[in-house]
Amino acid sequence: MAQFLVFIAFSIFTVNASYGLSIDEDSGSVASTNPTLAEEQAFIKLFGSKDPDEAATCGQLIESRGFEYEVHYVTTEDGYILQNFRIINRYTRESGKKLKPILLLHAFATSCSAWLVNSPGGHIKPWINGHPPNDTSAELGFLLANLGYDVWLINVRGTSYSTNHTHLDPEDPQFWDYSFYEIGIYDVTATVEYIKKETGFETIIVIGFSQGTIQLLIQMSAIPGYDKNYDLVILITPIGFLGDKSGLVGAIPIPLLRQLLSLRNGPFPPMSAITFGSFAVLCERPILTPICVNVLGGIFGFNTQQLNVSRTFVYTSQIDRSSNKNGLHILQFIESNHLRYFDYGEDKNYELYGSAEPPEFPFYKINPNKLVFISGLNDQVTTPINVQNLRNSLCDRVDTDHVITDPYFNHGDIVIAKDAFPLFNDIVVRSIEEKMLHDEL
Ligand SMILES: *[C@@H]1O[C@H](CO)[C@@H](O)[C@H](O)[C@H]1NC(C)=O
Ligand SMILES: *[C@@H]1O[C@H](CO)[C@@H](O)[C@H](O)[C@H]1NC(C)=O
Repeated sequence: MAQFLVFIAFSIFTVNASYGLSIDEDSGSVASTNPTLAEEQAFIKLFGSKDPDEAATCGQLIESRGFEYEVHYVTTEDGYILQNFRIINRYTRESGKKLKPILLLHAFATSCSAWLVNSPGGHIKPWINGHPPNDTSAELGFLLANLGYDVWLINVRGTSYSTNHTHLDPEDPQFWDYSFYEIGIYDVTATVEYIKKETGFETIIVIGFSQGTIQLLIQMSAIPGYDKNYDLVILITPIGFLGDKSGLVGAIPIPLLRQLLSLRNGPFPPMSAITFGSFAVLCERPILTPICVNVLGGIFGFNTQQLNVSRTFVYTSQIDRSSNKNGLHILQFIESNHLRYFDYGEDKNYELYGSAEPPEFPFYKINPNKLVFISGLNDQVTTPINVQNLRNSLCDRVDTDHVITDPYFNHGDIVIAKDAFPLFNDIVVRSIEEKMLHDEL
């Protein structure tokens, strides 16, 4: 069943993308910063938008909750120009406090909006007598901004926000010649260095979700000692292993997907706003909503308690893209069950790595004392077995290890769970507060 649903989802993406419709852009500022979402908004408008968060950019989402934002363009060592966001809270700014920077790293096929779009809530709240308000927002980005942190949101290369390069054209297949490895060592590093320089802080807090955790594990093992730049590394659904076939990956038609993704270097899903826009428009139709709920459930694990069905189309409108090569690297990761360099086949592997098989990333070089794990019991991607493998490979020395007690808590719930605050945002906040308190003493 899950296999069928994943396949249907995939078909909808590819069939739609191949129509290649083009829609007039009528929203200048959105078009200049995110042409994909501008097209999607124009498309959705034809059908009468049902929710202002549908296909909204992070800038629009942030302003709609009463915050302001800054856009920071960060150029990586290999030339990608990332469009990152910073949430500005006028109350914290008035407080005159120097705010600890926190960088949030989104998952595969999502963007900065993953930290902002859970519910219609997350509004700015005034400070009380120089102290942050009590807040229980479901959106981690807004929650941390309300609580007095300096919140930065990365948009990794290839997302609809970060499709620019110093000398490569996105039409050029070479632009898409990357996977989570390059994102980890180049995008994450360039962004962390940028934030340190911009804020004057020598260390920052990083929080990754799903592929965001892969990027951090790769960065910290491939650049030994880099974790000295981090006070705390919060890994939400930490992925160091992905081979447990009891979950979603057991249902993925790997040979078929591998063939499709190997055709050429290009965006995945193929670059088309209509793909995402029509997916959202379809999911708006009450008669089709159950199918979309099933597709989300097939991908992430079903948790009907925590899914706000009336927002399904908002969530699908925010699906973003990555590269075919990143998809291939994920498939290799699933098959080998080890986080290794990209496998180019024996000949090129010898040339590049001096061995027939690509080397593994050396997790033993990571300082586990800074790691916080948060994982769920019904997570079909970061299954409990996959998490246990990672614990073992870090010699069980992870500093803090939270397992969310809700037996149905799944992968996507990190972004969309109705009770995100009591279930896990609260854990994130307490981990940060304990660390800050400990360092002050
Ligand atoms: C569910 O979505 C609807 C429509 O956006 C919204 O009005 C409602 O507040 C949401 N419920 C929760 C718990 O977020
Ligand atoms: C891409 O970046 C270059 C160099 O910073 C800039 O001149 C150009 O306007 C950018 N293009 C887009 C579409 O943002």
